[in-house]
Amino acid sequence: MFRVEADATEGSTKVSPIRVFLDVLFVLIDIVKVIWYGLPILVIHIFRKFVPSKLKEVSGQTVLITGGGNGLGRALALDFASRGCNVIVVDIDLAAAERTCAELKRKRVAAYAYRVDVSSYEQVEALSDNVHKNVGPVDILVNNAGLVYFDFLHNTSVSMANRTIDINIKSHVWTTKVFLEKMMERKRGHIVGISSMSGMYAFPWAVVYSTSKYAVNGFMAAITEQLRLQGYGDQIQTTCVCPYYIATRNDIVDFLKKPRFKLLTTERTARVIVEGILRNEVILAIPPFFDLGVRIMQLFPVKIQQLVRDYIIREYELNS
Ligand SMILES: NC(=O)c1ccc[n+]([C@@H]2O[C@H](COP(=O)([O-])OP(=O)(O)OC[C@H]3O[C@@H](n4cnc5c(N)ncnc54)[C@H](O)[C@@H]3O)[C@@H](O)[C@H]2O)c1
Repeated sequence: MFRVEADATEGSTKVSPIRVFLDVLFVLIDIVKVIWYGLPILVIHIFRKFVPSKLKEVSGQTVLITGGGNGLGRALALDFASRGCNVIVVDIDLAAAERTCAELKRKRVAAYAYRVDVSSYEQVEALSDNVHKNVGPVDILVNNAGLVYFDFLHNTSVSMANRTIDINIKSHVWTTKVFLEKMMERKRGHIVGISSMSGMYAFPWAVVYSTSKYAVNGFMAAITEQLRLQGYGDQIQTTCVCPYYIATRNDIVDFLKKPRFKLLTTERTARVIVEGILRNEVILAIPPFFDLGVRIMQLFPVKIQQLVRDYIIREYELNS
């Protein structure tokens, strides 16, 4: 779409002082514009931290959740259903997806289970065809399926690293690619990426996992900007979710010997995530102070960041 043309002036290095002066002046004018337009947005943003905006109405809408058979995905499915949403549960484990669907139907909503390996583009494409033919368009796509895999790099096998990258990164690209087209056609939709705090703050005991979550954050940032660039910014929303550890499985609970901060509970985290989605939050860190803490910490030299890890976060005391 975009091509870089050879510059006719290539090779010439002389720039007149007037040109430099004008360039600096225009940049300064643009900075003033950003401050002028940005200040009211900042004030509203801070105000909304104390007085949250109303949740958007989603009753009757269709939500598709990958990895909805267990853990956080299951809890998200139940929360959406309690708000009147119909839910499509996609999981590599069909029995688990069907169990979630049975629970959803008790909430008097429509529920559909699909067995799909979301790391496979072919399977995701077939899922999209089936869903659009048999259920209808998807209003909210929740990319939740993921391998929660903690180990040092030298202990991580090549196949495990590949699988983590395929499930945790590629699945987001495939599902978004196939479901976005219909959202663009309908000029409505919401794409949610379940990332992790380890996508903002590197986990040294989970190098590949952490890497995969940094990629999810990058993907969500890029797709958000693509939608804005193409004029869909107000029609198709995005939410990138970065939670701290959640007690979804016993091995996660056992992994941290003496966590400084208590693990999040699954149901409450699901509620906070759904509310963030319904407020059209673009980045949702849970708990919120972690996000702010990480951003402040990154302003300081690495050695100071390491002191924060050693004295404040203190997660090095692992059971492994
Ligand atoms: N548990 C945590 O501490 C934590 C913290 C932050 C973020 N997260 C993220 O939340 C998401 C859910 O984590 P969880 O703890 O509920 O995990 P979980 O293992 O309890 O559930 C993951 C689900 O995804 C399914 N799944 C795995 N691979 C799949 C594939 N290839 N195709 C389709 N489905 C597949 C599994 O069958 C399972 O039902 C993950 O993306 C994880 O990275 C978890």
